[in-house]
Amino acid sequence: MRPLFLALLLMSGCALAALPVKFGDALNAKFHHPRCLQCHQFNSARHEGRAFNSHSARFLCDRCHTANITGLQRGEWIAPPVTLDWTELNARDTCRLIKRNLGGETVSEDALAGTMMAHLLGDVRVHWALDSGMTPGGRFPAVPGGAAAFAKQAQDWVESGMLCE
Ligand code: HEC
Ligand code: HEC
Repeated sequence: MRPLFLALLLMSGCALAALPVKFGDALNAKFHHPRCLQCHQFNSARHEGRAFNSHSARFLCDRCHTANITGLQRGEWIAPPVTLDWTELNARDTCRLIKRNLGGETVSEDALAGTMMAHLLGDVRVHWALDSGMTPGGRFPAVPGGAAAFAKQAQDWVESGMLCE
């Protein structure tokens, strides 16, 4: 009885390990964490981005978000255009949006994978959200798990072929 049980356990373990990683498995929740969203919805009137409530200043961001506070260089603390707002999108649509914005419809899958990895693992603003959360108004909670967990999840997803669903 026991060896059979063990064999079944091993087989199911292998099956699990081989399951492709989808965007919705872990990454989507992180993309929708307030540290990413607050900046990505900054210019959205519909989602009451900060440009439309707490922030009347829509330029010279790093006069307040200084390098000392953010850990970024001058000019790096900026908000994306409203087309990069994924507030309220589900996992599939968030995934499609970022792939499209990174050139998904015009470049090869390999090129997209490279750009995606470079952005998710190397972008200074992504790192700020994962490991800092510091603002001129104090520190807000960073994305749980930090850069290490995020890098692993991003890598698994890209290696599985950047599946949206
Ligand atoms: C301080 C503002 C800010 C924060 C915080 C931020 N981003 Fe961004 N993000 C940007 C800007 C600006 C761009 C556009 C950069 C460009 O075009 O080079 C961008 C682009 C992207 C892109 C490129 C894809 C696309 O659709 O163009 C992805 C993916 C992304 N961000 C993910 C994230 C994730 C995940 C987080 C949180 C862990 C995050 N960002 C936090 C400002 C931010
Ligand atoms: C006059 C000072 C000032 C300027 C200029 C300023 N900010 Fe802020 N920002 C703050 C303060 C203070 C906070 C924290 C209090 C709050 O949440 O509004 C903040 C918070 C934020 C947050 C929320 C962070 C989070 O993760 O919840 C974002 C995003 C942001 N600012 C982006 C920007 C961008 C982009 C610009 C330039 C277009 C900018 N800020 C210009 C003072 C400023």
